[in-house]
Amino acid sequence: MSGISRRNFLKLGGGAAAGSASLVFWGGARAQSGSTGAARTTLDYPEQSIGAASELAVGRTRSFTYPDRSSPCVAIRLGESVPGGVGPDGDIVAYSSLCTHMGCGVQYDGEARVFKCPCHFSMFDPGREGQQVCGQATVDLPRIQLSYDSDSDELYAVGVQGLIYGRQSNILPEASS
Ligand code: FES
Repeated sequence: MSGISRRNFLKLGGGAAAGSASLVFWGGARAQSGSTGAARTTLDYPEQSIGAASELAVGRTRSFTYPDRSSPCVAIRLGESVPGGVGPDGDIVAYSSLCTHMGCGVQYDGEARVFKCPCHFSMFDPGREGQQVCGQATVDLPRIQLSYDSDSDELYAVGVQGLIYGRQSNILPEASS
């Protein structure tokens, strides 16, 4: 088994591995159960700054890419503490911008407080760990795991919970060597 030990492959857990036999994961993967959904694979990636928390106003979004440039993401400050939220008020979350149905770019609707996919109208709730709430998608939106440094006010992306749509591999080149 190239690029991954048998022990680490087995650590992934039955659900993720059985449902995605063609996918390859790296040794930092683990299965995790969120408060609103089924178990999702969590992958740790290198820490990346995504800017200052204080510069992200309530209801506004900040676009970035993570874990590499081919993976668009968006951070949002929701204005109230939510599961997985970080920052001074626990209200900042981030998600992959790629719909889990067929990979269209989702857009955040601040009034409805959901991500909407323009292709087949799936919606995802950022206040509930990206839970899919209607539409063609059957998988929740991958959540970008964040950390917050209260001394510097800096936000960091540190991992991804869920598998990003359309990737041949969730292994970064530097992680597989
Ligand atoms: S690509 Fe988003 S619902 Fe089909």
